[in-house]
Amino acid sequence: MTKPTFYITTPIYYPNDKLHIGHAYTTVAADAMARYKRLRGYDVFFLTGTDEHGQKIQTRAADAGLAPKPFLDPIIEWIQALWAKLDISYDDFIRTTEERHKSVVVELFERLLDKDDIYLSHYEGWYCTPDESFWLERELKDGKCPECGREVQFVREESYFFRMGKYVDRLLQYYDENPEFIEPLGRKTEMINNFIKPGLQDLCVSRTSFDWGVHVKRDPKHVVYVWLDALTNYITAIGYGAADEAQKAKFERYWPADVHVVGKDIVRFHAVYWPIILMALDLPLPKKVFGHGFFMAKGGKMSKSKGNVVDPLRLIDRYGHDAFRYFLMREIPFGQDGIFTPESLVERLNYDLANDFGNLIHRTVAMLHRFSDGVVPKPHASEVPEAQLIALASEVVTATEGHMDRMQFSLALTEIWNLVRRANKYIDECQPWRLHKEGQQERLETVLYHMVEAIRMTTVMVQPFMTSAPKAIQAQFGWSDEAFSWNALAFGKGASGTRVQEAAPLFPRLDVEKEIEELTEMTGPKPEVAQKETPKQENTSKDAGKAQITIDKFDEVELRVGQIKTAAKVEGADKLLQFQIDLGSETRQIVSGIAKYYQPDELVGRKVIVVANLKPVKLRGVLSQGMILAASEGDTLTLATVPDSMPNGAIVK
Ligand code: MSP
Repeated sequence: MTKPTFYITTPIYYPNDKLHIGHAYTTVAADAMARYKRLRGYDVFFLTGTDEHGQKIQTRAADAGLAPKPFLDPIIEWIQALWAKLDISYDDFIRTTEERHKSVVVELFERLLDKDDIYLSHYEGWYCTPDESFWLERELKDGKCPECGREVQFVREESYFFRMGKYVDRLLQYYDENPEFIEPLGRKTEMINNFIKPGLQDLCVSRTSFDWGVHVKRDPKHVVYVWLDALTNYITAIGYGAADEAQKAKFERYWPADVHVVGKDIVRFHAVYWPIILMALDLPLPKKVFGHGFFMAKGGKMSKSKGNVVDPLRLIDRYGHDAFRYFLMREIPFGQDGIFTPESLVERLNYDLANDFGNLIHRTVAMLHRFSDGVVPKPHASEVPEAQLIALASEVVTATEGHMDRMQFSLALTEIWNLVRRANKYIDECQPWRLHKEGQQERLETVLYHMVEAIRMTTVMVQPFMTSAPKAIQAQFGWSDEAFSWNALAFGKGASGTRVQEAAPLFPRLDVEKEIEELTEMTGPKPEVAQKETPKQENTSKDAGKAQITIDKFDEVELRVGQIKTAAKVEGADKLLQFQIDLGSETRQIVSGIAKYYQPDELVGRKVIVVANLKPVKLRGVLSQGMILAASEGDTLTLATVPDSMPNGAIVK
């Protein structure tokens, strides 16, 4: 039986600067999806590449005293090395400077001219060189590019235009008939309201003011507009317009694309212009354009001038590609914006990987060696705890598949971690050490077997996200490829009798304070610059840097009134104070970095607001079981407080 196909693409990247974690985010997400589909038995074609033409590259190369190609080559090598480090499983990497691409763009332009879908006229308007985008006067924001906030230039030149308007009705019909074409849904509304309803202008598709690009055959002083050139990579890479039979067959096999994964800033090009270009070429349209959100850093959108660009290479070198990929996919719901903070990275790695997943493996292997000579025992008749674990696992598999099919990666990981946590709880409930002591051999064997099975199932499911650890765990437990496949996602499919190797922990625990300090140093922003600049690119309430959350998410936070009973300095830490806080039903020890702002004595008796359900951490070796809320601005900080009449333990909402 032939496998169903799945064609997935990332955008092709501008080789302007080194790529940052936002770029890595798009690519890791597409890679996770490609790997998932392969695991589900699809014949996947996963494409990425680079977008190498345009005025900006020409200028930068000239500034470097080089011709564009020699300027570009080392940057492309750097990008490919980054993808190799991230273990990106692409099937092809297209460069728009390759002949296989350029020759097809030339012919395609001719064809559109012959069809009169492209015509010659004059362009008069605003151009944003960094974004390679044309804008109408009314679309500018404060006279600047509405997309990136940078300066635009007034341009007047002879240009070719694409008759976009001709295809608008068909495009809207396609949106109607394919409600999942643009995701998340909000982006479709944005396309219709912001670009289509106000009247879709014909698109300027050639430039004469520079020459680094594909030249129009019948009028070589024109180079093809970089977006028309770039978008067609999705078809040229898989053989559209090629003379070679094998290439043609490839195109027949994979087109139309199943999904173009893109950032929200370029949904317009993929969901409006690209389908129209395809209609004009009489080609079927892609099935989906998924516009994910932005990964920002402290200080807002990442930019060189703010000094807050987070370099993925340094994070991969420090934590390994598996941990980094896990963090990117787990941290932000796919589709929404999110913010990178050192704290969030360290927490994810410590809690999810070291504590939950790593510990599950570590204690299971240790118990197999203590109680079963390192061999996976045979299960016997099982009881209620196994039935519960098995039922939960089966729900987790179904839910994970549903989330993966909708590209909801963070939800899929949350589900998988439900199984990880349930398995840890199962161990605590069944207490294999007690079963061993009491000589309940059959129960002990059954429990050990189920512990291994829970690990097998979680490890199979994390494969789209982590690419080395699952293989290492498979080798450690001796699972066959068959047992380690998506089809084997049920309890009982793993063999007994296999010998399990002892190994060093895959996810070591990090020293929270030290890690946060070093990450903060590594990832900026540089304070003096960050304070002067306010994030101006984002045009919604996301200006503050954080993405919107639902009330449900807020409800997860438990805020309570507490009263400070004692306060003292933490030895050896200038910034930290340590408190005993009365929360009504209990007294908590909390460490807070406010020593610069308060003397310990002045705080005793104060009513404060405490985040009561924060996971405990050790700060400089002192346990902290919560957090005290404070407001800060520049160099000042004030504790958030409530009147003395409010009882300790009262809920704050
Ligand atoms: N060359 C065009 C794409 C042409 S596709 C036919 C381009 N390149 S880019 O290098 O600027 O961006 C590549 C991808 O990275 C885009 O999907 C963009 O949205 C994404 N990101 C860039 N910065 C990002 C974040 N900070 N966060 C998440 N994704 C971001 O656009």
